[in-house]
Amino acid sequence: MQKNNMKIFFFGLILTSSLSAVDYKSLLFHGNCITCHHEHKANSAPSIDEIKENYLRAFPLKKDFVDYMSTWIAKPNKNTSIMLDAIKKYELMPELGFDESTTRDIASYIYDTDFSKEHEGHKY
Ligand code: HEC
Repeated sequence: MQKNNMKIFFFGLILTSSLSAVDYKSLLFHGNCITCHHEHKANSAPSIDEIKENYLRAFPLKKDFVDYMSTWIAKPNKNTSIMLDAIKKYELMPELGFDESTTRDIASYIYDTDFSKEHEGHKY
C-alpha cells in the first residue's frame, strides 16, 4: 500500500477586497497628493489646510466643492484657479492624468476629512 505523505495546500487568491470606500479614497489622496501637498505645511505647494480653506470659502456646499475641485485637478488651468497667488509662488500644478471619477473621489475625500483629527492614511 502506498502512503502518500504529501500534503497539498491550495492558496486561493482572496478576491474580496478588505478596503472600504473611505480607505480607497484615502489611499488615492495620500498616494498621489501628499508628495507635493503636505497636510499642514506649505513646501513645494500650498498645504491641504490652505487649499481646503480657500475652496470651502468659495464652495461651502459639498456638491459645488467636489464639482469645481475635481474638474480643476483633472486639468489644472490658470484661468479657473481660485488660488492665483499660489500659481505665482509655486507655478501651475502639473496635470496628473486622472480621469474625473477619480478626481471626484479625491475631492470628496478632502471635503469629508477633518485633517486636524486622526484619520485613515495619516502618516505625519
Ligand atoms: C507635482 C506636485 C503636485 C502634485 C502631485 C499635486 N499638486 Fe496640487 N498643486 C501643486 C501646486 C504647485 C499648486 C499651486 C499652484 C496652482 O494652484 O496651480 C497646486 C494647487 C492645487 C489646488 C489649488 C487649485 C487652484 O484653484 O489653484 C488644488 C485643489 C490641488 N492642488 C489639489 C491637488 C490634489 C487633490 C492632488 C492629488 C491628486 C494634487 N493637487 C497633487 C502641485 C501638485
